[in-house]
Amino acid sequence: MRLLPAWPRLKSGRWGLVTMAGLVACASLGASEGKSVWSGVYTDQQAAAGEKIYYDRCALCHGDDLGGVEKAPALVGIAFLDSWHGKTLRKLFERIETMPPDEPKVVAGEEVSNVLAFLLRSSAIPSGATRLPTDKLLLAEITIERAKP
Ligand code: HEC
Repeated sequence: MRLLPAWPRLKSGRWGLVTMAGLVACASLGASEGKSVWSGVYTDQQAAAGEKIYYDRCALCHGDDLGGVEKAPALVGIAFLDSWHGKTLRKLFERIETMPPDEPKVVAGEEVSNVLAFLLRSSAIPSGATRLPTDKLLLAEITIERAKP
């Protein structure tokens, strides 16, 4: 127990500074924890699975080219990315859960993430090694940016 008498010394001097630096580093890590869709947040496999779901369940209204048909808006391109810029993937995930308007929740869980991955790929946002989660807390940490930062 020789550590105990030494403890008060940690509060001041060199060790104090080191501790402070550590805290500051932790705080800034926490702040930059959120990432953008451009950092490889979905896998190719997910986008491929999502493509099938899209053509089964979504293309009838949103179009074969995702360009939108009548009241159903485009799910690709500048206008789409502009309207979602600054929002999180959680928001878009939850929006997909409200689809189709007359029969919500036609897709759920993994399927939603897969369709989401397909939408990202369609807007030329690159894939990566990490699977897109279904956990909403994790999805809330990923921000949609209209262009590569
Ligand atoms: C029956 C037609 C229909 C089907 C099927 C459908 N949607 Fe939609 N979708 C719409 C309409 C209409 C809107 C806009 C009005 C609204 O939200 O009610 C919309 C809005 C959206 C939006 C919001 C777009 C924006 O930028 O605000 C997203 C995202 C979306 N749909 C994704 C999907 C996905 C993914 C599927 C397949 C799982 C799907 N939709 C199936 C008709 C449809």
